[in-house]
Amino acid sequence: MGRHRAKLAVALVVVGAVLGACVGSSTPDASGGTTTTAGGESGASPSTSRAISGIDAADGLGDPLYPDLGNAGYDVQHVDGSIRLDTSSGRLQGHAEIEAIALDNLDSWSVDLDVLFPSEVLVNGAAAKWTHEGGELRIDPDAVVQKGESFLMSIAYSGLTEPYDSPAATFMMGMQRSQDGFFALSEPDGTSSWMPANDHPSDKATYRLAISVPGPLVAAASGTLIDTVQGDDGFITYTFETRDPVAPYLLAFGVGGFKRVEEQSAAGVDIRNYFDVDIRESSLSIFDRQGEMIDFLAERFGPYPFEVYGAMVLETSEVAVALETQTLSTFGTQILGLGEEVVIHELAHQWFGDSVSLRRWNDIWLNEGFATYTQWLWIEETRGPEFRDVRIAQSYDLMSGRQFLNGTDSEPVAAAQAYRQFSPAGSPRADDIFNASVYLRGGLTLHALRLEVGDEDFFEIARTFQKQFAYGNADTADFVATVAAVTGRDLTDFLNAWLYDEAMPPIPSLGLSPLTG
Ligand code: TRP
Ligand code: ZN
Repeated sequence: MGRHRAKLAVALVVVGAVLGACVGSSTPDASGGTTTTAGGESGASPSTSRAISGIDAADGLGDPLYPDLGNAGYDVQHVDGSIRLDTSSGRLQGHAEIEAIALDNLDSWSVDLDVLFPSEVLVNGAAAKWTHEGGELRIDPDAVVQKGESFLMSIAYSGLTEPYDSPAATFMMGMQRSQDGFFALSEPDGTSSWMPANDHPSDKATYRLAISVPGPLVAAASGTLIDTVQGDDGFITYTFETRDPVAPYLLAFGVGGFKRVEEQSAAGVDIRNYFDVDIRESSLSIFDRQGEMIDFLAERFGPYPFEVYGAMVLETSEVAVALETQTLSTFGTQILGLGEEVVIHELAHQWFGDSVSLRRWNDIWLNEGFATYTQWLWIEETRGPEFRDVRIAQSYDLMSGRQFLNGTDSEPVAAAQAYRQFSPAGSPRADDIFNASVYLRGGLTLHALRLEVGDEDFFEIARTFQKQFAYGNADTADFVATVAAVTGRDLTDFLNAWLYDEAMPPIPSLGLSPLTG
């Protein structure tokens, strides 16, 4: 438990430092990988899986950073999930109907499922053999599923929900307890800790999620609320449906004492927020301009991509995070102090990350660079270009300073800090994909590009990229190709230097160049 708490505290500092760019005040994690215990398996009921010989579990989607995630053998189309969560014990009972298309002839395949345990697996309605080990549910039906065929997996599962230790970050992810409920933080691979999934952003699907919670608690999830049913047992079932495909990690899940607050942007985008009733009105004022922000970004990036937007805000004491869950961004109260910037950051991800999703995790700068840059656009809009430039200069200095590399790299803390600042934005380490460089140098890359190509082309690049890859996936090469298509110039070397060179390129027009010494 002690270690658990320490990890949550780190999440607060890291995300806070990155979003607010509070220069010099961030405390890095020691070295990443000191905690390698697999999250959940203790405390939940034992699995009754049977061993099947000769099965290779290492058959992920081939992500360069997380090769085990997902499965390349099928493409999920739609998931119909039901989850019953007893909020006092934390016991979760779930059922998932996963419709997929076989991309190959499949005699067996894997589904990601961690922390919780399967109890029954059917394929096209017939019982299938299965094993469950190391976060992989391996399904071995009697009949081969032919390439191109659509098939249905029905998976019943249950257990005690708890956070798990992701390889990608130093803080605990997955299901978290809030003051009076639960919520999921699943980026990059945590959805499989509460629901079986092909847990990689390259496999997007539509979802219908029925969540049953003890009344008067309220459940919230991505998409539109289509049904609310009061059960005889005191549980209320809230059913949500997404119009558009969602990457697994972007599925919002929250249970709390919520009030639902509806509004609309001036341009007509529907907004529904889920605010924990215990949160003071004054802390929620940072959401007052959400409608304005949506219309502001729609002018620059193209139309808001989804049927609805909103914020889900939970009362949390330890963890200070926000996550861009699709159509309904998730906020803990501890992060609200960052102000409107965190609100527009998560909103920007609805375009960059949610509608246009990553093909592979090492391109995470495409998400975080654009979201960070959008904070600076909001500063430009609300306070003027001079304030934007001050923030850009601060971020540049933080990313290019050499003080942490010189003489102090024998200190593990300083070395970790140096890594977080000086690793190029385009090639993060697997255990640290949310490092400061991904955010700040990613944002600086975009500002340097804007200065290079001019405002008109810059925003045209953003709109063209959005339009071309909407509701799908893209990578850095796609972005570089969009830059070339819009500007008629090959800026590959320029962008490569910003994304992959050890040294920061200068921004001469702002008088910014790397410190020496
Ligand atoms: N993408 C989040 C943001 O930009 C940060 C983040 C990364 C995160 N991984 C997370 C938040 C896991 C919560 C849980 O705001
Ligand atoms: Zn972000």
